[in-house]
Amino acid sequence: PLADKIDTNIISLSRFIIEKQKQAKNATGDYSLVLNALGFAFKFIAHTVRRAELIHLTGLFGTSNATGDQQKKLDVLGDEIFINTMASSNIVKILVSEEQEELIRFETTEGTYAVCCDPIDGSSNIDAGVSVGTIVSLFKITSPPSEPGCEQDVLRSGHDMVAACYALYGASTHLLLTLGDGVNGFTLDTNLGEFILTEPDVRLPTDHPKKIYSVNEGNTCYWDESVKTFFDALKQPQDEDNEPYSARYVGSMVADMHRTVLYGGLYAYPGSSKSRNGKLRLLYEGFPMAFLIEQAGGKAVNDKGERILDLVPTKIHDKTSIWIGSSRDVDKYLKHIGKL
Ligand code: AHG
Ligand code: MN
Ligand code: MN
Ligand code: MN
Repeated sequence: PLADKIDTNIISLSRFIIEKQKQAKNATGDYSLVLNALGFAFKFIAHTVRRAELIHLTGLFGTSNATGDQQKKLDVLGDEIFINTMASSNIVKILVSEEQEELIRFETTEGTYAVCCDPIDGSSNIDAGVSVGTIVSLFKITSPPSEPGCEQDVLRSGHDMVAACYALYGASTHLLLTLGDGVNGFTLDTNLGEFILTEPDVRLPTDHPKKIYSVNEGNTCYWDESVKTFFDALKQPQDEDNEPYSARYVGSMVADMHRTVLYGGLYAYPGSSKSRNGKLRLLYEGFPMAFLIEQAGGKAVNDKGERILDLVPTKIHDKTSIWIGSSRDVDKYLKHIGKL
């Protein structure tokens, strides 16, 4: 029958969200509204990133952000797209963005959600055509009606996240999403304009995850001795197969993490004498990636071996060191520092 030729029953992101809403007890539909708004933001940013060179929107914007990054034009564009799509959702009360110094509060919104986002991750690479992405963590508002939407809604443990996701603008546009009950992967069908469920129940490979380490070795001279000896050991033939690890570093966390989820291996951004807590920001890089990797069967810890999700930020742009990926590899690090 024809149905053997084409799938006449595809699951779009919208359908996936409706099915989740049906499963939820006394759902209000607010959660579905947020997830749909996020899906639209990713499609809009994907469209913009892919046209950037054609409309001369590559290169620097000329300003720097709260963590000192030079802002690319696409950083600023992605940020504006995010602000507008979250504001118009009428359900997101506050927004933290890498590109905004202060937390944004949407006054007119009753809103029950807080979104933290990295609108364009990997933007230093973007002019060279390397894959970039968007990373998001989602919290429910806890602030009292008297003080609607404030920093206490996001300065909390990673365990309070209700969802986390990233979009990867690569050969295709991929979306990896967790609602706390596993991870699902979607691919954008640009003709339909819909994210289609292509990787249900994503899990890190358990048997023989690829022996890959992903770190910027250009920082070696700033690393603590224990970090240097850890990576030196990975470069030696390993017991199980007498082969050393292979090195892969894209320099876009979303690209490096997508490979880590699908192939296995270890991604790290250690602290250094240059920056004690490394470079990655906890709220919109560390937390969402840690939530996704744990939901896919992996681990995420900081230099001290503390679980990333146990950390609590004190400021919205706090940074964290991070060791994230296959349990086999994060455990190697934990053993190396005597935490296992
Ligand atoms: P962003 O582009 O959002 O500022 O994030 C850049 C991050 C991350 O994407 C990447 O893994 C890391 O910075 C690369 O940093 P180095 O260039 O220092 O290795
Ligand atoms: Mn940046
Ligand atoms: Mn980033
Ligand atoms: Mn960014």
